[in-house]
Amino acid sequence: MEIVVIGLGYVGLVNAVVLAGYHHKVTGYDLNVSKIARLKQGEAVLSEPGLQELLNKNKENLIFTDSAETAIKDKEVAFVAVDTPENPDGSANLVHFYAALHQIAKFATRPMSVIIRSTVPVGTNRLAAAYLKEESPLAFNVISQPEFLSQGRAVKDMKKPYRIILGVAEGETKKTVKALYAFYTKKHVPVLYTSPESAELAKYASNNFLALKISYINEMARLAEKVGADIDEVATGMGLDPRIGKAFFKAGIGYGGSCFPKDTKALNWLADKKHTPSETLKATIKVNQEQPKLFVDKINQRFHGVLTGKKIAVLGLAFKGNTTDVRNSPAYPIIERLLSYGAEVVAYDKSAIEEFKKNIDANEHLTYSNQLLSAMKGVQAVVIANDAKEIKTLKPSDFIDAMDKPIVYDGRNLYKPLAMAKIEYHSVGRPSSR
Ligand SMILES: NC(=O)c1ccc[n+]([C@@H]2O[C@H](COP(=O)([O-])OP(=O)(O)OC[C@H]3O[C@@H](n4cnc5c(N)ncnc54)[C@H](O)[C@@H]3O)[C@@H](O)[C@H]2O)c1
Repeated sequence: MEIVVIGLGYVGLVNAVVLAGYHHKVTGYDLNVSKIARLKQGEAVLSEPGLQELLNKNKENLIFTDSAETAIKDKEVAFVAVDTPENPDGSANLVHFYAALHQIAKFATRPMSVIIRSTVPVGTNRLAAAYLKEESPLAFNVISQPEFLSQGRAVKDMKKPYRIILGVAEGETKKTVKALYAFYTKKHVPVLYTSPESAELAKYASNNFLALKISYINEMARLAEKVGADIDEVATGMGLDPRIGKAFFKAGIGYGGSCFPKDTKALNWLADKKHTPSETLKATIKVNQEQPKLFVDKINQRFHGVLTGKKIAVLGLAFKGNTTDVRNSPAYPIIERLLSYGAEVVAYDKSAIEEFKKNIDANEHLTYSNQLLSAMKGVQAVVIANDAKEIKTLKPSDFIDAMDKPIVYDGRNLYKPLAMAKIEYHSVGRPSSR
């Protein structure tokens, strides 16, 4: 099929590259001119495992352009995968989304299926269909297909998702998506047809449930610290029950990224607006916002409330390992709070420093390093903020070599406390080694 993918971020680019591997002819369109220039040179632009290789492999079926007209004209299917960031009141901002619809209405030359992959508020699918009907004489078949991929494993998730949900309104056809996704049927991926509203809510409800699990285990971790339990043992014990499951049950400094923080707020906004406030959602958000602050407060207490002049290395600036995405990274509140207590911060990341710097004020007490071992050299404490591979594989001897008196605050529970017995080691919801 002739497909255009509008918006080439984590969702759009991965969709484009994977679909091109299933004999579809895919045109990727983005208004970011430099991104398109790099893609035209064959550069995958995102650090997603397997993406570069797949881009090389499927290049025969891929075209990239920054011209909306070239991208959209003559296509049978349009994927909308633009960003839907949060407004100051927590609601979803649909400016980019409607700009994409406007481009479709303007440049479409034949009836089209429009598949909405962006995360949009419940009801948007029908509003989008009405908008296109008003803007263009052509017939559009608008389908809501929320995306469930996780950054860091996006290609894998896109190739074999746990399920696909297709929200199809009454009177719309399923024919196009059936043909488009024949490869999923062959792979036995569960395909669920629902109303557009159910598909849209299923997306938000799924993300919020995963965020709830994280906040729940973090709350239990706080209690575990008080009563001498080990949250990893607790989570393992709970997770062995298939009714509960072990996924998203890792205690730490909270969730970040471009989805959970904004999607929890957007659903909370919607629930309030519909006069059915969600108390679990409000608690999820609150616990998550407190988590990095409480962690820094533990460090502050350890140094008897005097962090002024103490040199502290923060390792991992992206919101999680295996990505350069810094959106809503817990490293921000961690560093900001350390600075507010007067600490001297050395911020380490292998590849996310330039992105990170864009969202934090320059500060003479904040320096950066992309060299892991030298970032730790001579500091009074190390704070682990994400699970990047090179951080995960640090050994106790690395901390001993770098610091006079090693003190490690592991915000991701990356190491076994027993393995760290030789140094002062603190983590989340587990006994400390001193
Ligand atoms: N990142 C994830 O893990 C993930 C997972 C599931 C769902 N989602 C949802 O998918 C959507 C996209 O997320 P993302 O992380 O890929 O976003 P992103 O910010 O990485 O990329 C969005 C891209 O869209 C482009 N764009 C914006 N407006 C455009 C327009 N009018 N025409 C052409 N290009 C335009 C931007 O230049 C950018 O390259 C969001 O709604 C998000 O909530 C994201």
